[in-house]
Parts: sequence; C-alpha cells; structure tokens
Amino acid sequence: MDTIGVIGAGQMGAGIAQVAAVAGYRVLLSDREAALADKGKAGIARRLGSAVAKQAMSAADADAALARIETVGDYAAFADASIVIEAATEREEIKRAIFSEVGALMAGDAILATNTSSIPITRLAQAAPDPARFMGVHFFNPVPVMKPIELIRGLATSEATVTSVETFAKTLGKTVVHANDAPGFIVNRVLMPMLNEAIFALGEGVASIRDIDTAVSLGLNHPMGPLTLADFIGLDTCLEICRVLHGGTGDPKFRPAPLLVKYVEAGWLGRKTKRGFYDYSGAEPVPTR
Ligand code: CAA
Repeated sequence: MDTIGVIGAGQMGAGIAQVAAVAGYRVLLSDREAALADKGKAGIARRLGSAVAKQAMSAADADAALARIETVGDYAAFADASIVIEAATEREEIKRAIFSEVGALMAGDAILATNTSSIPITRLAQAAPDPARFMGVHFFNPVPVMKPIELIRGLATSEATVTSVETFAKTLGKTVVHANDAPGFIVNRVLMPMLNEAIFALGEGVASIRDIDTAVSLGLNHPMGPLTLADFIGLDTCLEICRVLHGGTGDPKFRPAPLLVKYVEAGWLGRKTKRGFYDYSGAEPVPTR
C-alpha cells in the first residue's frame, strides 16, 4: 500500500491522515468540500508543530509528513488509493452514499474500510462495491495517541482483506485487535455502559458532575472521568452507540440514560458544541450542574 484515501477530515479522519502520513504514506484527505479538508490539514499542521516544539519529532520529518497529505474536495483522485478509510459522520445513510460514490471510482483491487464505532459491518458492506474487500477499522480518539485499532470483519470480508489491513495497521505503530461484527465491537461494548451509568447516576442525584468524574478517574486510575470522556467523544455519538447496543442486543441493560437523551435534544453535545456536562467556553471546563 502506498496511497491511502481518508474520507472525513474531522477529529477522527484528520487523526488517521496524520498517523498514516507520519508512517510514510501518501494521503488523500477529503471532506464534503475542499475547505473542510484544508481545515483538517491545518489542525494536523498544528499538532505536528507542537510535536516539534516538544522535540518529539524533527521539523524536517513534520514538514515531510505534512507534504504527503493532499486535500481534495471530491473522490476523483481516490482511483490511486490502495485503501480508502471512511471516517465521516456516524450516520448510516451518509456512509452508504459515500460508499457508492467512492466505490465507483476506486481501483478494482482496492480495499474500502470504515471507521464506524458501532454500525454493523455486514450491513454496511451491502453498500460497498465488493463486500469481500470491505471491513471495519476502528481507531480511537485521539488517534495519534491511542494505541489500539479494532479490526472488524463482516460476514463476507475475505481473509486476504483482513491480512492486508492488519499489515497496514501495524505499520502505523498500532496494536491490532480482532472483533466479530457484534454491536459495539469490543471497546464500546464495555465502555458505553460505564459512561451511560455515570449519566444515570448524575440524573438520579447520586453525586455532582465533578465528584462522579473525580471518583471514577482517581478510583479506577482512568485518565478522564466518565462525564469528561462522554463530552470528549460527543454526547450524540455516545447516544447513538447506546442505541445500537440496545437495538442490536435487545438487552434493556443498554437503554440510554434519559439525561443523555435530553442533553442531545438540547444540542449540548460536549466539547464540540462548547457545552455538555461541562461548559468549555472559558479557559477551564466548568461543570454545568
Ligand atoms: N491529538 C493528538 N495528540 C493529542 C491530542 C489530540 N487531540 N490530545 C492530546 N494529545 C497528546 C499530547 O500532545 C500529549 O503528547 P506527549 O505525551 O507526546 O506530550 C499527550 O497526548 C498527553 O496530552 P496532555 O498532556 O495534553 O493531556 P493528558 O495527559 O490529559 O492526555 C488524553 C490527554 C490523551 C486525551 C488523555 O486524557 C486520555 O487518554 N483520555 C482518554 C481518551 C480515551 O479514552 N479515548 C478513547 C475514547 S473512545 C473512542 O475513541 C471510541 C469510540 O468509538 C467512541
């Protein structure tokens, strides 16, 4: 593999583009329009700049990595890509539309992968040009920092596709884990009930936002408390994953906390809207209740 296509230049897509470029790949980074892809690339430039300032990387390596990223506003250039990784909004109809558009332009032997955090791979594969060359490649946020990649095969994914994507993932310096196509895969199956339970606890008045986060963070030695982490992931994404777990298993233990639903209805989606369980409009996050 030499050229990697990345669709979606938000938090996840830009992170994936960054690690691929640092690993030496040519990266085509796209979004709905070129200006959004450029914005994603500007964020990568900032992060590489701070790695240089911390002497974690040489300025020459950072410049070379950045120069390997080309931003594009459509998929025409994706004909050159050996693998295309979709990291667009977590909505099935958006992903399906992307797959049919990019699928028509990709090379006959190229692999299409999705960074979905919870939509079933076997179902999404139906919109891909070839389900045998389609699979889930789930990165974690922030991508340059977090070690694992979950590889999820759909029913029709070929062995050759899994082997080739695993080899690629390891060249990014990541640790590969394999998961079957079950709701939430591994990490979100385990993580989301914890975040959701913290929101139930808040809604039931067990403790304040600050105390829930402090207790879990220090008591379990987690880098972030669950409400801070939910804000970091995005409350809309958390709700969507809870719904996938609930709908996919039929198990009531996965039902979303009513307070999570309310926050999403209010448009309080976490850091990205500057308000979730914390208010992010000032220098330091302030709990909202
Ligand atoms: N992009 C790139 N690098 C970043 C970054 C970002 N957005 N945010 C922080 N970093 C880097 C910093 O540059 C720093 O690097 P060095 O050690 O090389 O200096 C390092 O991460 C630590 O950062 P900070 O010192 O600023 O802050 P911190 O120690 O509080 O760490 C954190 C920040 C890495 C985000 C840490 O709080 C953490 O690990 N939190 C948990 C994150 C987590 O659980 N992610 C998984 C979410 S679930 C998911 O992604 C799956 C899903 O489908 C929902």
